[in-house]
Amino acid sequence: MSILNKHKYIETNATLLLVLSFFVVSIGGLVQIVPLFYLENTIEDVEGMRPYSPLELTGRDIYIREGCYVCHSQMIRPIRDEIVRYGHYSLAAESQYDHPFQWGSKRTGPDLARVGGRYSDEWHVDHLRDPQSVVPESVMPKYAFLEETRIEGTYIKDLIETHRFVGVPYTDDMVDNAYLDFMAQSNPDSDYDGLLERYPGAQVRNFDGQPGISELDALIAYLQMLGTLVDFSTFEPDASR
Ligand code: HEC
Repeated sequence: MSILNKHKYIETNATLLLVLSFFVVSIGGLVQIVPLFYLENTIEDVEGMRPYSPLELTGRDIYIREGCYVCHSQMIRPIRDEIVRYGHYSLAAESQYDHPFQWGSKRTGPDLARVGGRYSDEWHVDHLRDPQSVVPESVMPKYAFLEETRIEGTYIKDLIETHRFVGVPYTDDMVDNAYLDFMAQSNPDSDYDGLLERYPGAQVRNFDGQPGISELDALIAYLQMLGTLVDFSTFEPDASR
């Protein structure tokens, strides 16, 4: 029997053809999947990335609640015009503590992955209160109510614990001090040494310029942090991957 005849036998025997096809196809699958079992982490660790501070995390919740992601992405693609406009392309590590991630799929407004530090707090206050007052042609809605909504931080510990539950490496120290850190970040007169130790680079300011902590404080604290954690003047991609 020549080799062609053997093949004919396979082709005319549906069950055998199915079994052998499955065998051949699974080799391809195994080659792709098995190495992943031996990788501890598919995300390259990058210096500077840390879990979000309690106030930043609260701001992030408000960002999600208000649907900012519907008009704004947080993912700079490695394409030249994006890098020229927004800065270094986004790294996987930069969204490793985002549950859920905020990459977005629509850009009615600009990408916000590196908006931190681009504008002053006052600009954000004016812009969120009434976007058209600073950018007349803007189609962004007004969010003036955010500065009127006070937040107490009642559930901040639960929020941090929930994020720890889904894998963000919050320490016991961070959980225990969640409320203190939450209260300290928007009050430059507070004792915020512990906050800075737990969340290096956290910005401590009265973000909305008004007494007390408002949703606007939290949202601006979050926006001003975006894209500032990794120092790209010293960052080099890990060439071994
Ligand atoms: C209906 C779409 C829409 C929604 C929803 C929206 N924005 Fe915008 N946003 C825009 C547009 C358009 C611009 C560009 C014009 C401007 O600056 O207002 C913009 C600009 C911005 C900018 C300035 C970015 C830059 O680099 O100049 C920030 C910051 C911002 N938005 C934050 C937010 C936040 C925070 C929310 C949610 C509370 C939000 N936006 C919701 C459409 C939107």
